[in-house]
Amino acid sequence: MCGIVGYTGERFASRILLDSLSRLEYRGYDSSGIALLTETNMQVIRARGKLRELSKKLEGEMTDARAGIGHTRWATHGVPSEKNAHPQLDPFGRVAVVHNGIIENWEDLRQQYGQGLFSSDTDTEVLAHMLVGGLDAGLDLVEAVQLILSKARGAYSFLAVDSQQPDRLVGARVGNAGGLVIGISEDESIVASDVSALLPYSQEFIFLESNEIVDIRPSVVEIFSSDGERKIRSPERLSLDPVTAAKGTYKHFMLKEIHEQPETLLNGMRGRYSGTSETIDLSSELNHERFSIENLKEINRCLIVGMGTSMHAAMIGRHYLEQFARIPTEVDNSAEFRYRRPLLDEKTLVISVTQSGETVDTLAAMEEAQRAGCPQITLSNSVGSQTTRLADSTIMLHAGPEIAVASTKTMIASVIALHGLSLFLGKQRGLLQPEVEQEQVHQALLLPAAVSNVLNFTDEIDKLAEKYSASNNFLFLGRGLGYPVALEGALKLKEVSYIHAEGYSAGEMKHGPIALIDDQMPTLAICTQGDVHDKMRSNIQQIRARGGAVIALVSEGDSSMDAIATDTLIVPDIDPILSPIPAVVALQLFSYGIATRRGADVDQPRNLAKTVTVE
Ligand code: M6R
Repeated sequence: MCGIVGYTGERFASRILLDSLSRLEYRGYDSSGIALLTETNMQVIRARGKLRELSKKLEGEMTDARAGIGHTRWATHGVPSEKNAHPQLDPFGRVAVVHNGIIENWEDLRQQYGQGLFSSDTDTEVLAHMLVGGLDAGLDLVEAVQLILSKARGAYSFLAVDSQQPDRLVGARVGNAGGLVIGISEDESIVASDVSALLPYSQEFIFLESNEIVDIRPSVVEIFSSDGERKIRSPERLSLDPVTAAKGTYKHFMLKEIHEQPETLLNGMRGRYSGTSETIDLSSELNHERFSIENLKEINRCLIVGMGTSMHAAMIGRHYLEQFARIPTEVDNSAEFRYRRPLLDEKTLVISVTQSGETVDTLAAMEEAQRAGCPQITLSNSVGSQTTRLADSTIMLHAGPEIAVASTKTMIASVIALHGLSLFLGKQRGLLQPEVEQEQVHQALLLPAAVSNVLNFTDEIDKLAEKYSASNNFLFLGRGLGYPVALEGALKLKEVSYIHAEGYSAGEMKHGPIALIDDQMPTLAICTQGDVHDKMRSNIQQIRARGGAVIALVSEGDSSMDAIATDTLIVPDIDPILSPIPAVVALQLFSYGIATRRGADVDQPRNLAKTVTVE
């Protein structure tokens, strides 16, 4: 959940480290710090709060340093404060460590390997103590890291420097608490938690695997196993575009990313949905051996795993898989899945949905599925991420960089990818009628225009946000495909505006939540689904009868809720099975409108991080 960077080369390290950290701030932003090295000196500067606080402190400091490490933190052990910010040092100030993830046995390690007093509450500091202990005992830096790997339990990655070897960085990765990627260039090396931080500096990358150690000098990068065995690894070339990550004229990344969704949909369908033949084809993306027609016919169950917004996308995808591919499908929250000893076999297709491809619980769920021999597909927005390395096949979301912590365009990209995958699987299994394929492809290609229409309604949605921005509690209700939309609406509102919001299946309302209804508790009712429309009408009437205000989210042309709802939020009338897409976009704008009115930090909400790499 934290971001780590390191640099060694000919250029000014502080600038490069700060710049790379700014690209990792989405991983955590409660404090940050940097260690800079010259031939004779190591200086550590840390600050509580966002990266700009560190920048201010850094002005004019150590401008001649040509190597260093940096960190942006999401607190796990110890409150956000300067003393708990990384880098953490040993008691003599010889080595500095930045770390992501959790050292589970840190308290025991403190007892056993402490080299003196500890000055922070972090689990990280003991790594610096262990490292200096190893160096003092005559170990080389890589050997000292080996010692750490043999003793420290958990899932973590870290980078360290030794002030007596000022052009050298060492790092390691254990488990799935976020990766370490090394960008290779002539005469300099740069390393970070993920590739997005390295894009301006390199196009060639080495991805560290679990239980590997990296020894980095300006023009040499060496990889070792945790036993010290040297590994040969060729860099991978990736061409990615750093410019698209810029905020442009938008006030917030979240707003920019909401507005990018028509294009996100087009990019997600490009090369998969053919407008001319009205057919779907994902064959080039699926591993032919694992997903041959014969193997697909054998699949008797699908399991989609994900967390948060990605899980809500998965819940929509379940409807698609059952309807178009005719495969019984379950959706599981990855974190729950891994601990309930799931029954799996090689006839269960496991689909993981994760924009980052680094979510620790989803990775653990995938490992569970791997042990059981399940074929796996991952949907990810991050080239080279961990899930893409674990799965048999990857369906890239092609959503472009999503910087705001709240997922918007990656959810829409996940939903369309699941729609395409379901159609394709149905077709391969011989269970999808050609006319259904044609109709679905045709309808899906209308989505970019439908979402543009929602964006044209921004002013109307904003007026509703204005009207309801003082409410401190919200209920979101939906049935069928409206249910995951309700869950996502509630999640978006609570994370960006800090308003308490509950998403419920509307059928559940009378089993408890109705007790909450009064004139202080508005409800947002998702009413775009034809087959459950009348039931939603009844729910709305029941809420109104108890004094609750209701905003009905309806399809254009549906005036049936006008007389009973307090307000309506209108989205384009499209094929009901695809209606979650414009509905989710409308709810994103609604949450954004409320959050900005309440002065919340929309792009970096408190306590959150974009990628959750710790349990
Ligand atoms: O990277 P992932 O898609 O695996 O992330 C899963 C969740 O942490 C994520 O969807 C989260 O709920 C959203 N950022 C909330 O907007």
